Amino acid sequence: MGGTPGEDLAGKQVILGVTGGIAAYKAPLVVRGLKSLGIDVRVVMTDASRYFVTPTTLQTLSGRPVHTELFPETPPGAFEVEHIALADRADLLLIAPATADFIAKMAHGIADDLLSCIALATKAPVLVCPSMNVNMYLHPATRENLDILQKRGVFILEPASGELACGWEGAGRLPEPERIVAESKKILYQKDLAGISLLVTCGPTCEDIDPVRFITNRSTGKMGAALVEAAGLRGARVKVISGPVNREYAPWADVIMVRSAGQMLDAVRDNLSGADVLVMAAAVADYVPETYRGAKIKKGDKLTSLGLKSSPDILSTIRPFKDDKFFVGFAAETDNLSDSARKKLMNKGLDMIVANRVGESGTGFGSDTNSGLILSEAGVLDHFEQVEKEVLAHRILDFIRERL
Ligand code: C5P
Repeated sequence: MGGTPGEDLAGKQVILGVTGGIAAYKAPLVVRGLKSLGIDVRVVMTDASRYFVTPTTLQTLSGRPVHTELFPETPPGAFEVEHIALADRADLLLIAPATADFIAKMAHGIADDLLSCIALATKAPVLVCPSMNVNMYLHPATRENLDILQKRGVFILEPASGELACGWEGAGRLPEPERIVAESKKILYQKDLAGISLLVTCGPTCEDIDPVRFITNRSTGKMGAALVEAAGLRGARVKVISGPVNREYAPWADVIMVRSAGQMLDAVRDNLSGADVLVMAAAVADYVPETYRGAKIKKGDKLTSLGLKSSPDILSTIRPFKDDKFFVGFAAETDNLSDSARKKLMNKGLDMIVANRVGESGTGFGSDTNSGLILSEAGVLDHFEQVEKEVLAHRILDFIRERL
């Protein structure tokens, strides 16, 4: 099994081009986010950007000299044509923020400063993050320029809507640095799951007893979210069916929120046909109230028991529609991990099962790490001990990819 593709990001080179808009104040946080992934960030600033953020700030955070001049007086190190050297070494050219003016220059091949020369010379993927006044953004000239770039294969991260620095409301706000870093990361990843569609269920289900109370479990959706993020980074199309959770899934995932086991079953049934792989990471309730009481059960009602019935087993119900889809289940167990997981693998007609220990610290619900094993019909594929859920997600995907 290969390493996590994410490890490859260390040492990748990203040129961050900063152009002259107010959102340039967010550029230092973009540098920090990229650096935290081990990425080597080279900042190139246009003249106008220096009104909004200083080269010293970006130099300090990137740990590299900031490039500003097309004709530097003393080229750093051995002589090289700076814009070509930077353009050639880049794994990604990220322009954040990108002004209307800079987008226009890129669209029309104008190369009159260091950054625009790099944009023309590089063969690396390019991600442009427009940020400007809403009227400038919606102007036909900007729309057409963005269209030109998109048709050339440039990635465009659409601006967010909201209150703009100029006082107007609308589209034009630079997305938050985390979002820009996430998009950059996605472009830099190996796309070994391109063309694959994953349907992932996540989180707990909530089974209502009355309008106030419900039965649920300790699942937080963390393992499922790690799988959604990792699969998207590696180029898969990802749809999520999630029970109630207190988290956001990766921005590129298509998310369907449900509440109960019954709703999750319906959503899985409705979305299964488009999927190559189903990963049932959700902790679906095994027992649900026999009846839902439309009015709150009062203290004085002296309730002594709750009538429960089994919930529909989603995997068993959809088994007839499996065809050549790859089904992965999860098993949360306190003991007899291997035996219980093997039984579930067989009984539910799964291709693979991930069994994790619960009820201890450092593994299972809500924890950042997990311990357990991955099983297929062929036997145990992997044992993992307190492995970060993000790393485990990539390992699970490696096994899925090998078997598709
Ligand atoms: O039987 P158990 O709940 O331990 O099985 C776990 C696996 O089965 C998980 O993948 C879970 O998402 C799935 N499951 C299901 N329908 C249920 C309960 C669990 O598909 N009602």
